[in-house]
Amino acid sequence: METAADELPAILGGEPAVTLDQSEANRWPILTEEDEQAVLEVMRSGNITTHPVARELECEYAAFTGRKFALTHNNGTSALMAGFFALGLKPGDEVLVPTATFWASVIPMLWLGAVPVFCESEQERLGLDPVDVEAKITDKTKAIVVVHLWGLPSKMTELQAIADRHGLKIIEDASHAHGAKWRGRMCGSLGDISVFSLQGDKLAPGGEGGIFLCDDESYLERATCMGDMMRTLELPTAAARFAGTTFGIKTRIAPVSAAIARVQLRHLTKRNAKRNENLVYLSKALESLGFHTYLGPGHVERVYFEYLVRPDSERVGLPLDFLIEALVAEGCEAQRPRYPLLHQQPLFTEGAWREIARLPDEMPFPEYAPDAVPNTQLGNMQLLKLPSFPGADRTLLDQYIAAFRKVTGRAGEIRASRV
Ligand SMILES: Cc1ncc(COP(=O)(O)O)c(C=O)c1O
Repeated sequence: METAADELPAILGGEPAVTLDQSEANRWPILTEEDEQAVLEVMRSGNITTHPVARELECEYAAFTGRKFALTHNNGTSALMAGFFALGLKPGDEVLVPTATFWASVIPMLWLGAVPVFCESEQERLGLDPVDVEAKITDKTKAIVVVHLWGLPSKMTELQAIADRHGLKIIEDASHAHGAKWRGRMCGSLGDISVFSLQGDKLAPGGEGGIFLCDDESYLERATCMGDMMRTLELPTAAARFAGTTFGIKTRIAPVSAAIARVQLRHLTKRNAKRNENLVYLSKALESLGFHTYLGPGHVERVYFEYLVRPDSERVGLPLDFLIEALVAEGCEAQRPRYPLLHQQPLFTEGAWREIARLPDEMPFPEYAPDAVPNTQLGNMQLLKLPSFPGADRTLLDQYIAAFRKVTGRAGEIRASRV
């Protein structure tokens, strides 16, 4: 590969490094005739509500993760809600959660009156920081929500040890981590209850959909009674008596989504391998230019729901906004990460969460100060999001690498040009 370090960056008037069309390289989801056929089969059966395809998907997810039970949901948010309900969380119970995650990892618990306690994320793997988690345990703490952010398995050894020491349950949100492994074990098998989202951007999408997984039958029973009337009727336990009403929420998956999700699961390993091949290649080049790329330690097999990197500001020599501007001028798709920190959102800072949680007046409310999770706030401000290149070939990746070389090679001039 040519070294482009002394070429003039596009932001200084040079030619952009990335000239290839990126739409195919970054197209996701990949839907083929196989998906179409699976959808047609459901449609032609006439049973577009309770088609057995949902059960088939459950069996496949249970086998894939090695769990005893799987229950499909209409989305990952519902599956998380079912998880919080299955644990029996009650008003005032505290749950340790990351603030750096998608809102659905946390917010549904408010409807049960459970109180999220926002914790720091560590900067090696962007998962919950075990030290901060343990420091925030009180006598009201009942559970921990672990999110394998962007497909990088969290520090499970430490987090599981904390849960064991303090008698806490783990809800594992594996929505970004279909196919990732931690110490040889599948993500999705690491929590008391585990959840996948099958939303359209995810690694094994179904359009909308979610999977709830557990080994404890009582959790399955509660989740089923919460949201699925027909399945409640079929429960082999006394809980089947609730089928006439369920508990008031409806969370059944649409069979058309389940049909797509089955096909996508069949292709997951191969498609994950393609992303990994591309992003490991790119990461190695970016590491040499001063970027931390979250390849993960040896005992972790990460996947790439999204690809984030952190420039070492001294080595790269550019503030993040200038870097993004310069990369975009080169033709790169580069931006800041898309999730805002949850504890800084109006739901918490303006107190609206209390209306949802309806905690009794005598219960002390936690204060959600915007500066309460400082390390994560700082870390988040340093992240750069690039495409995850599900279908790219080396030519495009080499153009990205050339863009990074140009920009970092002339960082001083770019900096000078921006002030
Ligand atoms: C980490 C995480 N958890 C949960 C969800 C919720 O899943 P869904 O969109 O299927 O409701 C998402 C994404 O959409 C997510 O990114």
